[in-house]
Amino acid sequence: MNPLVIANWKMHKSVEESVRDAARIAELADVRHIDVGIAPSIVWQKAIHGTLHGTGLLTVVQDAHSEPSGAYTGAVSFDQLAPFSDMALVGHSERRHVFGDSDELVALKAQAAQRAGLRVVLCVGETREEREVGDGESVVRAQIASVLDAVDANAVEMLDVAYEPVWAISGGDASVEPATTDAIAAMHSFIRSFLRERVGESHDRIRVLYGGSVKPENAMEIFAVSDVQGALVGGASLDPESFVQILEAVPTC
Ligand code: PGA
Repeated sequence: MNPLVIANWKMHKSVEESVRDAARIAELADVRHIDVGIAPSIVWQKAIHGTLHGTGLLTVVQDAHSEPSGAYTGAVSFDQLAPFSDMALVGHSERRHVFGDSDELVALKAQAAQRAGLRVVLCVGETREEREVGDGESVVRAQIASVLDAVDANAVEMLDVAYEPVWAISGGDASVEPATTDAIAAMHSFIRSFLRERVGESHDRIRVLYGGSVKPENAMEIFAVSDVQGALVGGASLDPESFVQILEAVPTC
């Protein structure tokens, strides 16, 4: 499978900026060997889907409600977003830690997104405190297991995982450092073995991305780590040129 690199624009950019920057990325990005996604603010999903139509780039949902429809004022469902989307993030650390999404809710969202026909990128990662007491792997294992327990056996074909240690996510602060390549290698290898154990041969249909302060200056080093099949990029994806430099660091074979 191609590596996957996603720009997560979070709650940034007006509609004009989103359309302009998505068009610029589409113009510059070479998508022959990489799957490239853009996750705009949900309110611009339709506009960005239109901008990316025919370019080969994917439109990604940042988050949505776990129910397909209903009396949920202010919420939006994956079903409503599916006509304008190819993929969905679930379980991003800001959803877990700012909005309180539990492993159970993340699993329901993964099911809802897949039922709406979207490929899911399940975001997982431990906090600094969890890591310091030696719980990093068990936290990540539980986050993945709750989704694997919930989705249909054949739905693992519509799943990727993004390992994003919470302490390495920049939150817009460019001075935050990514995890070391040793730490990334260790957790990616752990995730790969866990996936193999849980889903057998199908594990090779699941890409494991790294996220957390990926920037043009460190992307090549991170992509060279074994078991890293792409990246989820926040702060450094807001500038189209910087995001395209990250895409250019992806090894093409
Ligand atoms: P960052 O964000 O690249 O700004 O660290 C990554 C993410 O939150 O997905």
